[in-house]
Amino acid sequence: MAGRGKEEERSAAEEKKAEIKWNEETQRFETEDKEAYLQYHLLQIADGQTAMDMVHTFVPRSKRGMGLAAKLCDAAFDHARSRDLAVIPTCSYISDTYIPKNPAWNSLVYKDEPKSSM
Ligand code: COA
Repeated sequence: MAGRGKEEERSAAEEKKAEIKWNEETQRFETEDKEAYLQYHLLQIADGQTAMDMVHTFVPRSKRGMGLAAKLCDAAFDHARSRDLAVIPTCSYISDTYIPKNPAWNSLVYKDEPKSSM
């Protein structure tokens, strides 16, 4: 009986490391080690609706170019959709790279000026 190969175990461990957690207190989506994160703020917009202003995405230099920022965005946009929140893509990575590559998320993007912060 062959168990899981070393390679497979290693990639499962890598996958786990890249698991994204929601940290409600700090308003971040982050890796378990907290080194990579997407920072947002909640804003009040028109008609009593709330938006997630996604202000900053950060990935440590050694982990860039492997899609980790996109994973953080996937988690944050899924969260926004599931809670009926609009998205304000203040972070340039999100507006210039992530959304053009994932145009379906444009439907969540808020187009007017926010009214006040919460
Ligand atoms: N603005 C827009 N796009 C950017 C970018 C930026 N500041 N920095 C990198 N990108 C693009 C790359 O050109 C690359 O595009 P390609 O796939 O077409 O070649 C793509 O992002 C890489 O995507 P991904 O692997 O998901 O991103 P990453 O895990 O390497 O992380 C950042 C990207 C921007 C989060 C990371 O480079 C970083 O932390 N930079 C410093 C902080 C910063 O500038 N944040 C963005 C502004 S808030």
